[in-house]
Amino acid sequence: MTKPNTTTQTGTPAPSDAHSLTVGADGPTVLHDRYLVEKLASFNRERVPERNPHAKGGGAFGEFVVTEDVSAYTRAAVFQPGATSETLLRFSSVAGEQGSPDTWRDVRGFSLRFYTSEGNLDIVGNNTPTFFIRDAMKFPDFIHSQKRLGDSGLRDADMQWDFWTLSPESAHQVTYLMGDRGLPRSWRHMNGYGSHTYQWVNAQGERFWVQYHFMSNQGVEAMGAAEAEQLAGSDADHYRRDLFDAITRGEHPSWDVYVQVMPYDEAKEYRFNPFDLTKTWSKKDYPRIKVGTFTLNRNPQNFFAEIEQAAFSPGNQVPGTGISPDKMLMARVFAYPDAQRHRVGTNYNQLPVNQPHAAEVRNYMHEGHMQYRFNPAEHRVYTPNSYGPEGGPEADPLAGVEASWESDGELIRSAATLHLDDDDFGQAGTLYRMVFDDEQRARFLDTLTGQGQGITIDAIRERFFQYWTNVDASLGDALRARF
Ligand code: HEM
Repeated sequence: MTKPNTTTQTGTPAPSDAHSLTVGADGPTVLHDRYLVEKLASFNRERVPERNPHAKGGGAFGEFVVTEDVSAYTRAAVFQPGATSETLLRFSSVAGEQGSPDTWRDVRGFSLRFYTSEGNLDIVGNNTPTFFIRDAMKFPDFIHSQKRLGDSGLRDADMQWDFWTLSPESAHQVTYLMGDRGLPRSWRHMNGYGSHTYQWVNAQGERFWVQYHFMSNQGVEAMGAAEAEQLAGSDADHYRRDLFDAITRGEHPSWDVYVQVMPYDEAKEYRFNPFDLTKTWSKKDYPRIKVGTFTLNRNPQNFFAEIEQAAFSPGNQVPGTGISPDKMLMARVFAYPDAQRHRVGTNYNQLPVNQPHAAEVRNYMHEGHMQYRFNPAEHRVYTPNSYGPEGGPEADPLAGVEASWESDGELIRSAATLHLDDDDFGQAGTLYRMVFDDEQRARFLDTLTGQGQGITIDAIRERFFQYWTNVDASLGDALRARF
């Protein structure tokens, strides 16, 4: 059997994959060797900007099945009893660059896409139910503090702890990060969380606030610090390999999907501000309600096309789901598509991984770099037009996303409304005292000791001790005693 020949990008036979076209065997290379020029030019354009943040990751496709009936809370087709949807899940770490070791201590991204019959629904969360800050204005500063110094290009413990200890609202999330969640055994062995409060709307138009929880059926397991350090050197792609190999072996990881549901009117008086991303809702107040299960069963065929170019956005909501007045979430609705127009290109939503798989796209947006899709509406390029339904589609306000909330007031810059039990350290202390067991607390103290040893500036180390004393006085004392 003869092998198929290589071709130019326009499908004509390639002249050679080993030799450039030269004047005689030792003479100059000629510019009209179009295959050589095309090959070098293509190579020069291979890299696109990496995600800033969450550059290092991996992912797979799968299927979501609704096993319960939550139609009392949402009319979204994807969550109706018995519905099935194709899914895509991308895992990531936050701070490291594309080549960084998977097992550096970090929060892990958990980006879940449902290709639903009403368009794509993306829940772009983490393996923690909280976050470091509660106002988008601080996000670039937070990420800068985790990345690299401007002069040396080095990551820096002083910079990280300077930012965290000057931002007390970070305490809850930093407690998660320095605990076992900061070093999962694998991506398969961690839970995912939408983290923010989202909204659901049922068929009667009743509104609910919800928090998404994705519970791993592989169990939640951590990795020891020594093993993580060793793997960072010997297998930088450990998590990516683990996921790909497991799916190849037919071991398909799965997660159960749960929601906490808060009736719309209870938000105002709840003891914590329910839109504050640094807080969790008590499971006693709002127990988890099961929705269904998703399973990852298909590896990407092309990592770049399907994982690197995947463009998730918390703004991708469907009828019956929506966002909430969380200041972080509202800003994210802008930030992700803006990043993706830059990172992937204007028409990034036309790529196979990003276009809806179970719904059609119909609108009057068109052209731009790399237009690929033939827009069914395109023979009329404007609306309103007088050609009726055949001439082009029209918006149906009843079919749109109706998630909403009341708001009024002057334009101001301020913290969100404080609720009864709102403070920066309370839930962090509860996590340390009530959720961690003795072994976890012991590992936590060791981790903090290691972190403190990385701090070189006395004033920052002093604030570091104070920060952990605010979380728990005995923890602060134990930590100080180690130095
Ligand atoms: C205002 C706050 C935030 C801003 C401005 C922001 C911005 C961004 C940007 C620009 C990207 C890269 C997107 C891309 O190039 O495709 C990104 C990625 C990501 N962010 Fe955020 N982010 C914020 C908060 C959060 C929070 C609170 C979470 C989790 C609860 C989160 C989870 C993620 C994840 C998982 C990714 C990777 C997405 C993927 O897998 O492609 N971010 N963020």
